[in-house]
Amino acid sequence: MAKIYVTRMVPQSGIEALKSKGYEVAVNPEDRVLTKEELIGALKGQNYDALYCLLTDKVDSEVMDAFGPQLKIIANMAVGFDNIDTLEAKKRGIMVANTPGVLTDTVAEHAFALMLSIAHRIPESDKFARAGKYVGWAPMLLLGNDLSGKTLGVVGLGRIGSRVAHHAVSGFDMKVLYNDVNRNEEFEKEFNAIYLPLDDLLKQSDFISIHVPLLETTRHLINAEKLKLMKPAAYLVNTSRGPVIDEAALAIALANKTIKGAALDVFEFEPKITPELLLLDNVILTPHIASATEETRSKMSELAAANIIEALEGRNPLNLLS
Ligand code: GLV
Repeated sequence: MAKIYVTRMVPQSGIEALKSKGYEVAVNPEDRVLTKEELIGALKGQNYDALYCLLTDKVDSEVMDAFGPQLKIIANMAVGFDNIDTLEAKKRGIMVANTPGVLTDTVAEHAFALMLSIAHRIPESDKFARAGKYVGWAPMLLLGNDLSGKTLGVVGLGRIGSRVAHHAVSGFDMKVLYNDVNRNEEFEKEFNAIYLPLDDLLKQSDFISIHVPLLETTRHLINAEKLKLMKPAAYLVNTSRGPVIDEAALAIALANKTIKGAALDVFEFEPKITPELLLLDNVILTPHIASATEETRSKMSELAAANIIEALEGRNPLNLLS
């Protein structure tokens, strides 16, 4: 009977799918991230055939060493997979899979929720009302900015970036600029979108939404120099990976108001947040929840399980990365 280790409690539907195949499924009983030592301790000598892991688990060669040679697949319940050493896994003949697609709509919605919230000053207004400061309608009270008719710069035109562009065009009549390693002429035609080098996109956009994976080439893609290119009235939104933005440089830009605002779902040193950001009103912070809806997290759990089942039944997982 195949044995699977799950690094943390996840939506039950995926676990049920694995159990229905007769697999022995061990779930870390503590609802927290295991340290590397704890993870290695849980794996050693157990002869697991599959690892079901999360973006908070760093799966490197030392963790892979803790498995026996029977390990077939590392299944990440996330679309991003920068937490896994995929080259090392490939060398060892271990398959790696992720869960793209099922979270596209949810993350795109969250990017919009952030854009709307920062531009309409929703958290600030909520705090104001709860503090009993609302004494009457006022013509200049908490003025924000419209999205409608503005220019959105999409950095990274994968599934999520494309969906964000779709909402921008069809829901808010926004003009879309984009930057990616590849040009997509079909997308340009469909959304009247314009491809620009990153610097030009940063100079021309009113809202910038980041959707690139974390790679060595995208680490600090948005640094102090790039932030200086943005309009003083522009907003920056990040639902991708924290280290894509130099968070210290962003805190300075926000404090000095060289950009108008930012909304972040991801952080450079997660779960730590640069303390200066916590003091600012022109930034919204959500704790890496862009895909966190009941519907989507269940689908992600089921897809991670499906990837494991495919691999253990001798087929390629649906979302094979390497
Ligand atoms: C979330 O950040 C994911 O990669 O799924």
